[in-house]
Amino acid sequence: MSTMLEVSGLNHRYGAGEKAHVAVNDLSFTVEAGQLASIVGPSGCGKSTLLRCIAGLIKPTSGRVSLHGDDVSGVPEDLAVVFQDYSRSLFPWLSVAKNVEFPLRWRNLSRSERRTRAQEALESVGLAGVGSKFPWQLSGGMQQRVSIARALASKPALLLMDEPFASVDAQTRFELEDLTRRVQRENGSTVLVVTHDIDESVYLSDRVLVLSKSPATIVADLPVGLPAERNQITTRESAEFVTLRGEVARLLHGGAPEAVTAASDAAEYELAQQDAAADAATKAHTKS
Ligand SMILES: Nc1ncnc2c1ncn2[C@@H]1O[C@H](COP(=O)(O)OP(=O)(O)OP(=O)(O)O)[C@@H](O)[C@H]1O
Ligand SMILES: [Mg+2]
Repeated sequence: MSTMLEVSGLNHRYGAGEKAHVAVNDLSFTVEAGQLASIVGPSGCGKSTLLRCIAGLIKPTSGRVSLHGDDVSGVPEDLAVVFQDYSRSLFPWLSVAKNVEFPLRWRNLSRSERRTRAQEALESVGLAGVGSKFPWQLSGGMQQRVSIARALASKPALLLMDEPFASVDAQTRFELEDLTRRVQRENGSTVLVVTHDIDESVYLSDRVLVLSKSPATIVADLPVGLPAERNQITTRESAEFVTLRGEVARLLHGGAPEAVTAASDAAEYELAQQDAAADAATKAHTKS
């Protein structure tokens, strides 16, 4: 496997002097081509900052980001980002098809090629019939599918997703997780997803990078050995899934895996909350 993304000694500081805030501190990791990696970390720890540095949207204070061997300076052509807030990332005055085609305008593609690509991308996210509608005529989950289609249409070497399913309901979230896994496998894409959700980080990925609280450093890099074919109900019930999510939760709450502390009690509480939400979503899923 070749290395798609290499982040080495990355630091990012906002501001200067006494008011400076170090958001990312000496982060190094690589993502292999065709891998789906998740990044999970506490709120405010620097996840979005890291993604913005990788996407070339901000220049890191120091350190290096390279995409298939080329240093990133400015937004690379073969990289796409899906942001959390779909309502602000789609143009309301453009049809769905035109939104998906939009970034292709800067590619050397004919009009008909752009149309075909957009159509294929919409089909791959299950939205073949909605190209002529406007984003505001779609549900939140559908709008987020449009954002995913727009990212896929450019056939990116690396797809970055920043909490892509945080604004949708639990059932839609399950569907979008499965969609992400399916298109990632079909296209052999390399994907880096930031999420707050411990279960999602395990369910979605081949690997989970756990970040510390601010400034972000890597506290663990856990391989996910679950079978490639996953199922929202049976995978989440499997012993390996339950063990991994427990490990991620304990790491996030600052305790060693074997240490039974207040932190792990908090993790248990969070897991119980997530169980209740997942049960509710599963019931809704089974009914529909
Ligand atoms: N443009 C900015 N100027 C100054 N400080 C910023 C800026 N953007 C982010 N920060 C600060 O940097 C830190 C990391 O922010 P960042 O958005 O990367 O965190 P995050 O891990 O993505 O958080 P969340 O999980 O809530 O999305 C925070 O303390 C934040 O206040
Ligand atoms: Mg963020």
